[in-house]
Amino acid sequence: MNTIDFTKTYYIDRRGSHSRKWDGEHLKFCRIDLLPLWVADMDFMPPQCIQEAICTYVKAQPLGYTMTNPKYLKAVIDWYKRRHNCIISKDWLTSAPNVITGIMWCIGAFTKPNDAIAVLSPVYGAFDTSASDAQRQIIAIPMKRSDDNRYTVDYEAFETAITMHDVKLFIHCNPHNPVGHVWTENEMARLFSICERHKVLIISDEIHQDLITDSTPFTSALTVASGAYADNIIAMSSLSKSFNMASLHHAEVIIPNEKLRDQFNFYKAHVYHTDSDVIAETAITVAYTHPESEAWLTDVLTVIRENYEYLCRELCTALPQIRISPMDGTYLAWIDFGAYVKAEDMHDLFENKCRIAPSFGEWFGGKNYATFVRLNLATSLENIKTATHNIIKYVRP
Ligand SMILES: Cc1ncc(COP(=O)(O)O)c(C=O)c1O
Repeated sequence: MNTIDFTKTYYIDRRGSHSRKWDGEHLKFCRIDLLPLWVADMDFMPPQCIQEAICTYVKAQPLGYTMTNPKYLKAVIDWYKRRHNCIISKDWLTSAPNVITGIMWCIGAFTKPNDAIAVLSPVYGAFDTSASDAQRQIIAIPMKRSDDNRYTVDYEAFETAITMHDVKLFIHCNPHNPVGHVWTENEMARLFSICERHKVLIISDEIHQDLITDSTPFTSALTVASGAYADNIIAMSSLSKSFNMASLHHAEVIIPNEKLRDQFNFYKAHVYHTDSDVIAETAITVAYTHPESEAWLTDVLTVIRENYEYLCRELCTALPQIRISPMDGTYLAWIDFGAYVKAEDMHDLFENKCRIAPSFGEWFGGKNYATFVRLNLATSLENIKTATHNIIKYVRP
């Protein structure tokens, strides 16, 4: 389907649906008439085959207690193999109601109060709050930004921070929110060997794994160096980003190491008791097996790429010193307005003038990023055109 037809078929006006992004602006912004480009979900309906499968299930079955459906397990395993060349065993799979809860449980299961947890900053803010809410210290290790606005790791600084703070856990974001970087095998091997050397457990948050919008392919942390680090890795994902179903509460937690898996499941059993979520399993099974859902994914990625290219073209022409990071993955554009706008003017500019609700840069690592915004591009080109037009109008070169 071309992008115009896709948008006509799947774009949905979400105002009035209790959408956090569209109806929850009062939670974070000083006004509620903004074009919302903040919360990371899409303004598109999920593939029709998933909508239909959920309806069919609900009409045919009561929503009683259920056990994990083997078809769901097979669908997940086959998806990882087919799409990501990642072989996972059925035994490695466990689950959480969503990725952040899975991360919180890992923090509870594998660290103690005051232990240090490392992240590469800027990074998705919930990593920080999950650690600090559990009274762990977060060690934000800044990435370097090169002239082409791509972020890379300073491996020496990474190792120094790990040893200096006696870090116990590293939360890796692959692909990286907010900078859009898709980590290569070589980059991860360097990070993971440092972690291995200093006995640092790794969580790899792979929730954006299917949202690859440029040429670098996604590599699961589990496959790095032919799986050499897999025993020290807990990988997490869910279909909430890929197929826009964040309100279905289910995430895959993949733990190859039996001892770690038992420890995770032991912790989980003490904080959570429930059977499988049949609606989520039904949706995942269809999403990961039906050709229509894969076609939908290809189409939505084309829309996202088109939006990114439009945004870059227009902003870079009108504001040549703007710094937009390459978006290899995710649907999130990471943009630095520092050449044009003072940090203290960013909120007024975006909220009162441009009338856009972005994710502000400081949400991803504090004041160092106060001149940045992250814009969610998983919406119509028309919305991106409005946002771009307003930015150009009010950000004066
Ligand atoms: C990297 C990353 N991890 C986790 C989440 C949240 O996932 P969940 O809703 O499954 O907790 C997000 C949402 O934006 C994200 O970007």
